[in-house]
Amino acid sequence: MRILSGVFADDRTGRQVTTGTPIALLIDNVDQRSKDYSEIRDSYRPGHAGYPYDIKYGVHDYRGGGRASARETAMRVAAGAIARRIVPGLSVRGALIQMGELGIDRDEWDWAEVERNPFFCPDAKAAERFAAHLDAVRKSGSSVGAVIEVVADGVPAGLGAPVYGKLDGDLAGAIMGINAVKGVEIGAGFAAARLSGEANADEMRMGNDGKPRFLSNNAGGVLGGISTGQPLVVRFAVKPTSSILNPRRSVDRYGAEVDVTTKGRHDPCVGIRAVPIGEAMVACVIADHYLRHRGQVGESPRWPFPRNPG
Ligand SMILES: Cc1cc2nc3c(=O)[nH]c(=O)nc-3n(C[C@H](O)[C@H](O)[C@H](O)COP(=O)(O)O)c2cc1C
Repeated sequence: MRILSGVFADDRTGRQVTTGTPIALLIDNVDQRSKDYSEIRDSYRPGHAGYPYDIKYGVHDYRGGGRASARETAMRVAAGAIARRIVPGLSVRGALIQMGELGIDRDEWDWAEVERNPFFCPDAKAAERFAAHLDAVRKSGSSVGAVIEVVADGVPAGLGAPVYGKLDGDLAGAIMGINAVKGVEIGAGFAAARLSGEANADEMRMGNDGKPRFLSNNAGGVLGGISTGQPLVVRFAVKPTSSILNPRRSVDRYGAEVDVTTKGRHDPCVGIRAVPIGEAMVACVIADHYLRHRGQVGESPRWPFPRNPG
């Protein structure tokens, strides 16, 4: 990756500093294999974006999906690396918590384990099960989906907006903007629909540090579109890779019915590589809201409020 503008090394301090101009980054795609796609040039891969691209533009780049290729997400990860540095004390970590039907044991969650296995899985035993399952899926010419959880710690309370630009709305939009994502949930998410009002309410008590303490985090760190200071918890579902060896029924761009088999390099579970992408998108949204917050209100009001002001 090359940095084209926006930062320089200050001789006087030996530090890299931003100049205030846009930071331009360039990643050359030096590892493409367009030949892999020549056989299915005119056919639509079921689950891929060729058909709607043709309908909209009259053209689609069949070489690896063109603009629908997740290659562009490399740049999101690069942008996320910058975003992480904008908010002081922010930590954004992601983990693969489900592959197909297989889940993790949340009691075995160990963030250090995420760095130790190729699945970004926080449960060592589950990672072994994922490895065996993925091998079988690959050998059978198929693919499998995944669920990823991203947790952001150190998010200040007060980021977001009440109507336009809600923090949770922006997070959902950013995550849904990642290729192959079909579902996003915040906090308890879809499970909240099954909870009672009592179970779902994140009760509050005063902590020893003079700040309120939430006794649970079903809200996932956002209420009314604004961060509460609790960890932000975002989960998302990634569909199984649509390019698979096993034939699927489709049509071609001339209106004939065909069977499509996709050869070439395709991960049987793109959800694995979606972990750092999810982290990056969450970091970008938080950094964006952090800067907007500063522009909107500067210093937040001092809390708790005096009972008798003035
Ligand atoms: C990291 C990553 C890698 C991907 N690699 C592939 C791939 O090799 N083959 C494929 O068919 N789809 C792949 N996808 C998914 C497609 O880009 C995506 O399904 C396609 O653009 C259609 O868009 P949609 O699924 O978001 O509707 C990948 C997605 C991600 C996040």
